[in-house]
Amino acid sequence: MTSATARVPAKINLSLAVGPVREDGYHPLATVYQALDLHDEVRATLVEDSDHIEVSVHLESSTESGEVPEGADNLAARAARVLRETTGVEHGVRLAIRKVIPVAGGMAGGSADAAAALVVCNAVWGTGLSRDELSELAAEVGSDVPFLLHGGTAIGDGRGESISPILGRGNYYWAIAVSDRGLSTPAVFAEFDRLTAGREIPQPSVPEALLAALRAGDPEALGEALSNDLTEPALSLRPELRDVLAVGSGAGALGSIVSGSGPTCLFLAHDESHRLDLAMALASSGVCADVIQARGPVAGAHLIS
Ligand code: C5P
Repeated sequence: MTSATARVPAKINLSLAVGPVREDGYHPLATVYQALDLHDEVRATLVEDSDHIEVSVHLESSTESGEVPEGADNLAARAARVLRETTGVEHGVRLAIRKVIPVAGGMAGGSADAAAALVVCNAVWGTGLSRDELSELAAEVGSDVPFLLHGGTAIGDGRGESISPILGRGNYYWAIAVSDRGLSTPAVFAEFDRLTAGREIPQPSVPEALLAALRAGDPEALGEALSNDLTEPALSLRPELRDVLAVGSGAGALGSIVSGSGPTCLFLAHDESHRLDLAMALASSGVCADVIQARGPVAGAHLIS
């Protein structure tokens, strides 16, 4: 195979509990991830007898913010390097990324591309690693990368990289408010440390009510159980996000939360038609740069050609 393409979903965190910062600088997390049908695509073309890993990025949306690195700093390039170092393969690759997931938006767009890169490079290099083996490499590349290989709905422990699937029910419909400027994940965690300094922070856990809502497939109960410990730090860095959350709540969202480290905000709808109402209320309010409609859960990174 000389070329292959993978699709990879965005992630959201239905709950995100953050513990006290560890000695390695990471925070222990207890989170519930969900994969949404908002997909990036990564196409890999084999470059034989070369050690070259090249990345190009095409942004689909005009409201995309932030700079996506095209060189060695791109997470997809890092993922390809980790796979090459582990397997000893002696070929290079050209990776072309088609980005739909908001950049620096708290939906793990960079990590998604890394997960897709592992899948496509494993195909064009013929390295034959299993999903479990790829998942171990994924954890080296970033905390969210193993979930983006896995997809569905899952609990994330450790720094987010340790995944346990949840067999929930139902489809969930989300209106998603996108900002015109991204937020840096390390900056939001640093703000969490600043705001919680001197306070006793409990070890993080997943709310039982959230798991019960997922087992029942009950969007109303899920909306009430949504939570995110990075809300306050994200709002502290971006006070205008309060207005975005207020518009969605005012329009009858079942739950309104910041996505991951933000600045994207998520609004849970009863069903598809309610999602359209929420999206129209957000779009007409002028509080956000763009509104996306998505559904979850969906599969993780997978080959499409
Ligand atoms: O793992 P990843 O490289 O995606 O994390 C990006 C940054 O987010 C880390 O460098 C760290 O500052 C912060 N982070 C954290 N605790 C986590 C996950 C990420 O502090 N559990």
